[in-house]
Amino acid sequence: MSPSPWSAYDEMGAAYEAHAADGTYNAHYDRPAMLAAIGPVGGLRVLDAACGPGFYLAALTAGGAEVAGFDASAAMLKLARARIGAAAPLIQARLGEPLPYDDDAFDLAVCALAIHYVEDRGSALGELHRVLRPGGRLVLSTQHPTTDWLRKGGSYFAVAQETDTWSLETGGTQSVLFWREPLQSLCDAAADAGFLIQRVIEPRPAESMRAHDPEEFDTLMMRPGFLILSLLKMEV
Ligand SMILES: C[S@@+](CC[C@H](N)C(=O)[O-])C[C@H]1O[C@@H](n2cnc3c(N)ncnc32)[C@H](O)[C@@H]1O
Repeated sequence: MSPSPWSAYDEMGAAYEAHAADGTYNAHYDRPAMLAAIGPVGGLRVLDAACGPGFYLAALTAGGAEVAGFDASAAMLKLARARIGAAAPLIQARLGEPLPYDDDAFDLAVCALAIHYVEDRGSALGELHRVLRPGGRLVLSTQHPTTDWLRKGGSYFAVAQETDTWSLETGGTQSVLFWREPLQSLCDAAADAGFLIQRVIEPRPAESMRAHDPEEFDTLMMRPGFLILSLLKMEV
């Protein structure tokens, strides 16, 4: 049996947390762009789907949200619990499988850099749609389809599982499995799940990246690395 996409995160553990804390792509690209897309969260019930080590949980809690979170990786959940303490209910659950939350339970769902790990993205989006109240939003980030195509080659239109090799400074080397798909395929899955695409964002790096990693800053000003979708559960 091939390893699950989250087993790499179990293996990386604290090394992934250290990487994401101030890493070019997490701290200076994904999080600032996602938090800008999410906007004010004061008083909202927010679900962090695939919360990882809890950087979004901390930011959302600081913004006044009432947060809950889940992740498939036990190691990531342990780190998230250590980060936010008892402030939020955190559980082990998987995108792509039924989620143990009531219908309409959340005003906002956040899913950062995780949907590309899920084979059945349609089911994952369907469950996130179910747990949102009508008028609620899902804001997700993922790897940009064009960049995956440029990195991996072959047909842009291929829907296929690919492997990246990550070598984090303190975490050894891991094979990280992910799904590539064309933009239309992800947008179709969102629409089929019942979402209206409110906004498509191809983020530019945060200004802080210019000093942190000038080379990647220049690259990401020329071609996208990630993609953000803001998806609305329509009122019925
Ligand atoms: C790149 S990390 C992002 C973590 C967090 N969202 C962030 O941006 O800081 C991807 C996370 O997705 C989780 N993951 C992968 N597949 C998953 C699945 N099917 N269900 C839930 N979590 C999953 C991993 O365990 C990992 O914590």
